Amino acid sequence: MPLFVAQSDIVIVEDPNVPASEVVELYAASGVHRATDDLARIERMIQHSDIIITVRHAGKLIGLGRAITDHAFCCYMADLAVHRDYQRNGIGKAIVDALKAKLHDDISIMLLANPEAMDFNPPIGFQKVGNCWIMPRTH
Ligand SMILES: CC(C)(COP(=O)(O)OP(=O)(O)OC[C@H]1O[C@@H](n2cnc3c(N)ncnc32)[C@H](O)[C@@H]1OP(=O)(O)O)[C@@H](O)C(=O)NCCC(=O)NCCS
Repeated sequence: MPLFVAQSDIVIVEDPNVPASEVVELYAASGVHRATDDLARIERMIQHSDIIITVRHAGKLIGLGRAITDHAFCCYMADLAVHRDYQRNGIGKAIVDALKAKLHDDISIMLLANPEAMDFNPPIGFQKVGNCWIMPRTH
């Protein structure tokens, strides 16, 4: 059942079973940097996520939001990616709205922005904070 239909042939749904091969293609087409040479790792990322929102245009995967949450207090938005050919059309915002619709409003949502997307976040409601700390992964 579509969560939201942006245009007649653009459909946003929750899809926990999105194929890893399609996700890898979308990462490359959006500019998101992930371990795309390790399909098993991408499959684990999908399998252990709590909420995955996909956007398809005439069946083609053009957007993805992937989140990890306790459904009570906090949610980490691990991926937000829109295919280059479809950026700046409100799809990124629609993915975040679809995620918010799945969460109660007593849950905060966090994300790490790509350097080139730092200005994307304020218009869709994210606030920059100074008290976020990260322990980087080794690879
Ligand atoms: C960042 C990304 C998800 C935005 O998706 P999108 O569909 O292009 O964004 P939207 O069209 O919904 O834009 C929402 C708002 O952010 C603004 N915006 C979008 N991308 C922007 C960017 N790179 N820099 C500055 N502002 C941006 C838009 O102007 C819009 O503002 P408005 O509502 O005031 O007009 C997409 O560009 C992307 O996949 N980038 C590469 C991956 C990435 O950087 N992901 C991390 C995101 S934190």
